[in-house]
Amino acid sequence: MSAQGNDLGLPGIVHVLPTPEALAEAAASWLARESEESRAEHGYFAIALTGGSTPKGLYRRLTEPPYREAVAWATWMVFFGDERAVPPDDPQSNYHMAHEALLSHVPIPPERIHRMEAERPDLEEAAREYAALLADTLSKAPGGAPRLHCVLLGLGENGHVASLFPGTPALEAQRRWTVPGRADYAPFERLTVTFPVINAAQSVVLLVSGAAKGPALRGVVEGTVPAARVHPAGGVLIWFLDQAAADAMRAAP
Ligand code: 6PG
Repeated sequence: MSAQGNDLGLPGIVHVLPTPEALAEAAASWLARESEESRAEHGYFAIALTGGSTPKGLYRRLTEPPYREAVAWATWMVFFGDERAVPPDDPQSNYHMAHEALLSHVPIPPERIHRMEAERPDLEEAAREYAALLADTLSKAPGGAPRLHCVLLGLGENGHVASLFPGTPALEAQRRWTVPGRADYAPFERLTVTFPVINAAQSVVLLVSGAAKGPALRGVVEGTVPAARVHPAGGVLIWFLDQAAADAMRAAP
């Protein structure tokens, strides 16, 4: 059960759920429908997963009934929105988290799972190769960027999405699809998709849980944080907030 939160002033469609568990359920239900629509229309579902802690509940929920059986996992094509410069078996790796919570529990063909190799010494080269993979595998949006069916994102307390951190050059990339990013907490070195890729997607989903996210949400409305640059040109922007995040946003100065 979700309440509409459009009075919050956020752009797009806003769902406010009472708890993190309800948020995971609502997002899982939405994602299952979306993946089925993409399968019917395109024959596959191309999604970029996000790291951080908020999506874990969603990923775990997808491995349980009814989603485990109902989703056409073999049609999924999995990419990542960002990755930290650690090996894929490091607990801080976004791939590692997604693998543990979701990918190791569902029958997505391994060759359709494309992690970002951010442990490589040359991040520029790794970024160029991942950008080429996106461009060669996906169709193009009108502006030329590769078009994912869905980009999942979390929201940092400073308003970052993917590894697009405030004040970094990665925010300004216009003709590159993946670039090295720099975080303001460890692991500092990152790979990240760029805003042109995020904004070329058919749907962008922001998962936001907890009172600590109130100021960042307010920053989106005020246009002062990187997440304010998310506005899919030919797609939809959908927010799943829990009540704590929504309340803290309303209370934020
Ligand atoms: C990462 C992320 C990052 C994350 C936000 C929110 O690698 O850290 O992909 O963009 O989604 O920082 O993280 P939480 O969900 O943990 O608050």
